[in-house]
Amino acid sequence: MPPVVALHDPKAPLDRRGRSLHDLRISVMDRCNFRCPYCMPKETYGDGYRFLGSAERLSFNEITRLAGLFVGLGARKLRLTGGEPLLRAGLAELVGDLAALPQVEDVALTTNGVLLARHAEELKAQGLGRVTVSLDSLDPEVFRTMSGGYGNPTEILEGIDAALAAGLAPLKVNCVVQRGVNDHTALGLVEHFRGSKVIVRFIEYMDVGTRNHWDKMRVVPSRELHAAVNARWPLVPLAAGYRGEVAERYGFADGHGEVGFISSVSQPFCGACTRARLSSEGVLYTCLFATHGLDLRTPLRAGADDLTLAQLIRDAWLGRNDRYSEARAELHAAGSERKIEMYYIGG
Ligand code: GTP
Ligand code: 5AD
Ligand code: SF4
Ligand code: SF4
Repeated sequence: MPPVVALHDPKAPLDRRGRSLHDLRISVMDRCNFRCPYCMPKETYGDGYRFLGSAERLSFNEITRLAGLFVGLGARKLRLTGGEPLLRAGLAELVGDLAALPQVEDVALTTNGVLLARHAEELKAQGLGRVTVSLDSLDPEVFRTMSGGYGNPTEILEGIDAALAAGLAPLKVNCVVQRGVNDHTALGLVEHFRGSKVIVRFIEYMDVGTRNHWDKMRVVPSRELHAAVNARWPLVPLAAGYRGEVAERYGFADGHGEVGFISSVSQPFCGACTRARLSSEGVLYTCLFATHGLDLRTPLRAGADDLTLAQLIRDAWLGRNDRYSEARAELHAAGSERKIEMYYIGG
C-alpha cells in the first residue's frame, strides 16, 4: 500500500470559490451492461463504439496511489463509479486497497445492481461501507425503456437484498426522473421501499454530456415530486447528513424511513461542491460538466514522484472555478461539444 503523502503545506487547498476537496469519485470502467438513453444511447454506443482498452485504464495500484495523494490533499470520501464499476474484474481487491488508506472515512460504490448479488459479500468483506444502486422504475417495461432494453427490476431487487444481507445498509437507490417516461412510477418506488433500510433518492434529469438530447421539458422539479410524495405519506425535513450533501433529506412523518431529492437543475448546489472526479484513464475533472481535465496518467507512467503528482492535483484544485449548474441557463444555451459524458465519469 502506498503511503499517504503529506505535503509541506499542511493546510488543505481551497479552490477559487473557497471550496475544499472532500470527495473523490473514481470511475474504474467506462463500459456498461446497460444503455440508458439518457447516458449511453444505443445509437452512439453500439457494437462499433471504441471503449478504453485495459492498458489505457489505470491499474488498481495506480488508482490507489493517486487516491492516496488526493487523501493527502483532504479527500476523505471515495466513491467508485463507472460506467458500471462491477464490470471491472476483481473490484473488491481495489476496495480493500482503498479502505486501507489512512484517513479514508468512507468507501462507497454506485452501481446499476445487475452484478451486485454476486459481489456483495466480498465487497463488504474488503471494507466497502456503502452502496448506491441506480433503479429508475419497478415497472418492468418502464425499467427496460430506461435501461435501453437490458436487465429487469427483479434482478436489481435481488442485488439490493444481497447487499442488505451482507450488511451494506442503509442503502440508497437513485432514480433519475424524466417527465413522460418514468415519473408515473416514482411513487411505486417509494411505496416499495418505505419501511425498509433503503433510501430512495430522486434525481432531476440533467444535461450531462452531449449525447442525451436533454430537454428541460423532461425535468421533473423536485418540489413537484416532493408534493406528490408528501400528499400520500406526509414528510418532515431532516438535517443534511454532512456538509455539502447533494440530496435534500425528508423523513416520513410516521417514522417509516426517509427519501431524498437531488435538485441539481432547480436548486444547484455548486457553492458547497467538494467533489473531484477521476476517469478510468486517469484524467482529473473538477466538475461533472467539465470540458477539460488534467491527465495524471502520463506523468504517473513517466515515473513522476508522489510530490510532483500531488502538486499537479493541488494546482488543479487551486485553479478550480466551476459552477456549471448555477450557470446552466447561459452555459447550456452556449452549448459545448466537448462536455464529458456521464458513463465516462460516473455521475
Ligand atoms: P452520498 O454520499 O450517499 O450522499 O452520495 P452522493 O449523492 O455523493 O453520490 P451518488 O453517486 O449517489 O450521487 C447521486 C447523483 O447526484 C449523481 O449520480 C449525480 O447524478 C448527482 N450528483 C452528485 N454529485 C454531483 C455534482 O457534483 N454535481 C451535480 N450537478 N450532480 C451531482
Ligand atoms: N441526469 C441525472 N442523473 C443521471 N445519471 C446518469 N445520467 C444522468 C442524467 N443525465 C445518474 C445515474 C446514476 C448516477 C451515477 O447518475 O442514474 O444513478
Ligand atoms: Fe450504465 Fe449507469 Fe449510464 Fe445507465 S446511467 S448506461 S447504468 S453508467
Ligand atoms: Fe459541482 Fe460542477 Fe455539479 Fe456544480 S455542476 S455541483 S461545480 S460538479
